[in-house]
Amino acid sequence: MFFSFSLSVALPALRAGELFLLASCPGAVPENNTPAVALCANMPAEGLPVGAVLRAGDEVLLNVEGQTLWPGWERPLFLGRALVDIPTGEQKLNVTREGCALGVITLSDKGFAGEREDASGPALLDMARAALPVCHARRFLLPDEPARLRNLVLNLAGQGYDLLISTGGTGLSPRDLTPEALIPILDRRLPGFEQAMMAASLLKTPRAVLSRALAGTVGQTLILALPGSARAARENLEAVLESLPHALEKLGGDMSDCGRS
Ligand code: MTE
Repeated sequence: MFFSFSLSVALPALRAGELFLLASCPGAVPENNTPAVALCANMPAEGLPVGAVLRAGDEVLLNVEGQTLWPGWERPLFLGRALVDIPTGEQKLNVTREGCALGVITLSDKGFAGEREDASGPALLDMARAALPVCHARRFLLPDEPARLRNLVLNLAGQGYDLLISTGGTGLSPRDLTPEALIPILDRRLPGFEQAMMAASLLKTPRAVLSRALAGTVGQTLILALPGSARAARENLEAVLESLPHALEKLGGDMSDCGRS
């Protein structure tokens, strides 16, 4: 979750709030109508993870909002946002990231069609923010389509998201296919998380047996797939919330001995 290194960046003139692209140089020449491009002389091979912050001395100049492909560029570019007005010029910037990048994915055909308000996504985001040091958080809304969920999870894991929480599609109706979408891409299942969620849920309702909520990892990203109703999603997350910070530390490579608090 935490790292620090320096980067030499040729910055275009940017206004506070402006989105721009960060690329390793040499790169393709941008065509007309592309956003401004900042060229980084020594981009690390793994690129810039979402949620990273770039500082000149003590001043925070910009942050990394994500990763994207762009026509004419061979490798993915990083989406930056200027946090202050920045003049054009070359700068040596310190790149750090403190805290975790969190994505909450709501799966709902009705929500996606605009026929139902998403109550679960915002509730999960608030709970996770209260329990974890979050440096970047985004919500996503998808229809109940397994291929779209699988692609989004792989994409966000590749961008450096630490924790992805989905809500919906764990039950038994024909379009409840979240486990079918995710199980093939998980590197490791986390049965302890799954059992804790089921045990806590059974204390709330016997209908918990219908849920196929699951937990696992994709690379260094922790995935939790929770049921769809706001209440069920909250109750499931509550069961594992306390263990998340330690789980994320371990997944991020913390090799220290585990004490018990
Ligand atoms: N778990 C908890 N803790 N609380 C609940 O209210 N509802 C159950 C179950 N798990 C519930 C729960 C019900 S009624 C269903 S149908 C399943 O989650 C699956 O929900 P989903 O299809 O919306 O993912």
